[in-house]
Amino acid sequence: MAFRLSHLSLALSLVALALAGVAIYRNTYEAMSKGFQTLSPELDLLESAASILTLNNNAEQNSDSKLTQPLSPLACIFSAVQGVVNSAIDRERRMGASLIRLHFHDCFVDGCDGGVLLDDIPGSFQGEKTSPPNNNSARGFEVIEQAKQRVKDTCPNTPVSCADILAIAARDSVVKLGGQGYNVALGRRDARAANFTGALTQLPAPFDNLNRAN
Ligand code: HEM
Repeated sequence: MAFRLSHLSLALSLVALALAGVAIYRNTYEAMSKGFQTLSPELDLLESAASILTLNNNAEQNSDSKLTQPLSPLACIFSAVQGVVNSAIDRERRMGASLIRLHFHDCFVDGCDGGVLLDDIPGSFQGEKTSPPNNNSARGFEVIEQAKQRVKDTCPNTPVSCADILAIAARDSVVKLGGQGYNVALGRRDARAANFTGALTQLPAPFDNLNRAN
């Protein structure tokens, strides 16, 4: 009797394995052709097959087949920033444009050093944020702050500069709004000095002519 049961168990395992193989093949093919969009119903088939295997082969084993490995530090940073940016753009679509502009306004003044994010300290520190090209028109500061906080909370002991977070946020905005993705290398150092006049002289003004733009 026990011998027959083990044969039945083996046969069930083989059927489940074959179903899983077909599902994996079809899923991979579909994901490649659709650009990794929503997972197809075949995934349900794969999950059913996997759970048959799990139950059949080791009833005591935890049947939760989801991956539980922690993200690598870099992947954790990128995923944290993307989550915050996507939610912000879901709330207000314009925010994507604002974050792209914020990155541009950061990089044109002394390079991409997060200088545009620094708050003034009345009497001792006047930075780029309140310089005319940014004052009351640059937006998205709170999204960058949220992203920084999310990285701190979810990726402990993974230092990353605010300038890097802004660079990632701009790229994620482009992607979220339907544009082409690109790699963002990390390693920018945050500014420690204010440059109020730099924002005036290094960013092109709306009344500049083409010679100045060149
Ligand atoms: C070259 C000279 C440029 C000038 C003079 C200029 C000027 C301006 C001005 C006056 C605004 C309106 C700001 C407001 O709503 O108060 C604006 C918005 C914007 N600019 Fe530029 N810009 C320039 C280049 C760029 C570049 C290179 C980018 C992209 C990297 C860019 C991206 C944007 C975006 C996305 C907005 C809309 C921001 C929002 O809706 O919050 N601009 N720009």
